[in-house]
Amino acid sequence: MRELKGIKIGKHYIEKPIIQGGMGVGISWDQLAGNVSKNGGLGTISAICTGYYQNMKFVKKEVDGRPLGTENAYSRKALFEIFKNARQICGDKPLACNILHAINDYERVVNDALEAGANIIVTGAGLPLELPRLTENYPDVEIVPIVSSARALKIICKKWKAAGRTPGAVIVEGPKSGGHQGAKYNELFAPEHQLEAILPPIKEERDKWGDFPIIAAGGIWDREDIEKIMDLGADAVQLGTRFIGTHECDASPVFKQVLLDSKEEDIVIVSSPVGYPGRAVKTNLIKTLEPDTKKIKCISNCIFPCNRGEGARRVGYCIADSLGDAYLGRLQSGLFFSGANGYKLKEIVHVKDLIDELMTNEK
Ligand SMILES: Cc1cc2nc3c(=O)[nH]c(=O)nc-3n(C[C@H](O)[C@H](O)[C@H](O)COP(=O)(O)O)c2cc1C
Repeated sequence: MRELKGIKIGKHYIEKPIIQGGMGVGISWDQLAGNVSKNGGLGTISAICTGYYQNMKFVKKEVDGRPLGTENAYSRKALFEIFKNARQICGDKPLACNILHAINDYERVVNDALEAGANIIVTGAGLPLELPRLTENYPDVEIVPIVSSARALKIICKKWKAAGRTPGAVIVEGPKSGGHQGAKYNELFAPEHQLEAILPPIKEERDKWGDFPIIAAGGIWDREDIEKIMDLGADAVQLGTRFIGTHECDASPVFKQVLLDSKEEDIVIVSSPVGYPGRAVKTNLIKTLEPDTKKIKCISNCIFPCNRGEGARRVGYCIADSLGDAYLGRLQSGLFFSGANGYKLKEIVHVKDLIDELMTNEK
């Protein structure tokens, strides 16, 4: 077994090459991210729908129990509070913030995250070509894209280089990951789109632009998986679903129980108003889905590809409401994202013990 070494993301040293993936809505907020960073990994705060934080305490206006409009859905005040609380846990160790490119108000939310004290900005679900400009007044902040192909990395590096920046790291996400996917539905199970296949060409592309670390994500569960993906050239790994199985994870107990109760065949692909397929546990929402032409109202105006509820009516659910409901522990109406290995979760452990297990391969 190899010795697992820390990585440098620009100026930021991450003692252990274990990154906790950003998980919205409310799965990776202060408690989870703070504890991962405290224990030597990199914790990632999700900036998605922070309006839901602490029973919508920071939301100025709500309708039907939902944050009203983009301003309240991505509550600046709540994001500040999340960072403040995470800092109380991890001190000045690096903390990342995950902001999907497909959200409305992307630029404003990036700025909020910078002002709230993020050390690293991570963006997927689109090509964040404008990140160098948005972060130009924060020279210590590193910017990290999530990609699923060498082509996407090439486009980003080319554009960022023209602005005088290189990525602090790149996250390579394969189709076993939880949540929104970077590949189309018919590509998700094709061998050429699996993490093991996309990683080597992305590494080759990375070599053309610098030596920033490669972080592999999607379906990584245990030390054996870490060894295998590092053999293919990854410098670090990002885990999402396994961190849901921790006491510190901000998800509701209902969310954790959904994963504990799931079987392999329960983890399915579902269409999403974001425009990418998503991977989730087949709970009541998915079992009863049908396109809905009039009933779904857009309250939170969360993502631009949905076009104020058009996408929601097409797929049969609103992404903000459904992920919000999962966070609130509403089993019937919630959407419970999970990686393909979510059914392997058998117990809830502490973040420290999970990181120790991954580092030492001892339980
Ligand atoms: C519940 C859940 C929510 C997620 N939300 C986001 C998100 O908001 N932004 C993002 O970039 N990735 C998101 N992801 C992906 C994770 O950050 C991570 O990269 C991925 O889950 C890794 O695969 P694994 O779950 O098999 O470990 C989410 C994953 C899960 C399970």
